[in-house]
Amino acid sequence: MSHLPVVVIGAGVMGRGIAYVFSVNGFPTTVVDVHEDALKNAEKEIKQIYHKGFERGIISEIEFQRKDTYLHFSKDFLESCEFAQLVIEAVPENLQLKKSVFEKLDDVTQASCVLATNTSTMSPTEIGAFTKKPEKVIAMHFFNPVHKMKLIEIVRGLETSDETVQFVKSIAEKIGKETVIINEFPGFVTSRMSALIGNEAFYMLQEGLGTPEEIDRAIKLGLNFPMGPFELGDLVGLDTRLNNLNYLHKTLGEKYRPAPLLIQYVKAGRLGRKTGRGVYDYTKKTDK
Ligand SMILES: NC(=O)c1ccc[n+]([C@@H]2O[C@H](COP(=O)([O-])OP(=O)(O)OC[C@H]3O[C@@H](n4cnc5c(N)ncnc54)[C@H](O)[C@@H]3O)[C@@H](O)[C@H]2O)c1
Repeated sequence: MSHLPVVVIGAGVMGRGIAYVFSVNGFPTTVVDVHEDALKNAEKEIKQIYHKGFERGIISEIEFQRKDTYLHFSKDFLESCEFAQLVIEAVPENLQLKKSVFEKLDDVTQASCVLATNTSTMSPTEIGAFTKKPEKVIAMHFFNPVHKMKLIEIVRGLETSDETVQFVKSIAEKIGKETVIINEFPGFVTSRMSALIGNEAFYMLQEGLGTPEEIDRAIKLGLNFPMGPFELGDLVGLDTRLNNLNYLHKTLGEKYRPAPLLIQYVKAGRLGRKTGRGVYDYTKKTDK
């Protein structure tokens, strides 16, 4: 069954996963990015998820074929967004960048189109105020890897309408996700908690408390977390983790000051899995 058209802005870690879950569930999905390379890599990676899903029997043959009919890639905002009923923004966690994207989306989408941000920490009220339809703006916070993680944290801004909340909730159900609906506060529930744990792990590493492997093992085996904080940080992207902490530090205070060692890793370009090296080295290891 074909659903309403969806556009995903940003073909990075999250945009790819979001585009997969929509297209495989029968939503015609266009991924938009400013970088041609990002679009090419996204197409390759999304198709790999399709292939693995089909090989493992997770998706049916009909769902597997959807990669050819429901998935599109473009650099053109206007053409892609003209008929969309839902746009999900997944560009880096930088307010100025999000502002420029939402101002553009306000111009190129129909009045009825809902604009969702996949921000990990920022205010949907503030992002909504960049548009002339704040009642249609909401945060849909997906988790990484999107095709495996069940939750979407739905965050309503001050002006977000009940209709918009119900709309995204029903869409989330159609793509097989569970939801929590919360009011905005920096970092929501999940990013605020995760940023603190991840940051604390960097402070421990900096203090020489243990190796990354030992710290991760302690948290997994002792606290029953499925992933260690460094494994998770490398998956999320250390630049994304740092952006989140910077925002939380600015909005919520000292408790969230980023660990100097985390800042150093980001300066060195050790961003995690996406660059081949973060806390761990993925160019040599295959088991992380
Ligand atoms: N990485 C995670 O685990 C995770 C989890 C939940 C939420 N988020 C949030 O999702 C958002 C995206 O994070 P990510 O990790 O996918 O980032 P990323 O750096 O992997 O990808 C961002 C993409 O946006 C593109 N982009 C930059 N400017 C653009 C523009 N003006 N128009 C269109 N595309 C543009 C980039 O080329 C890049 O491909 C952030 O707000 C982040 O906080 C990330």
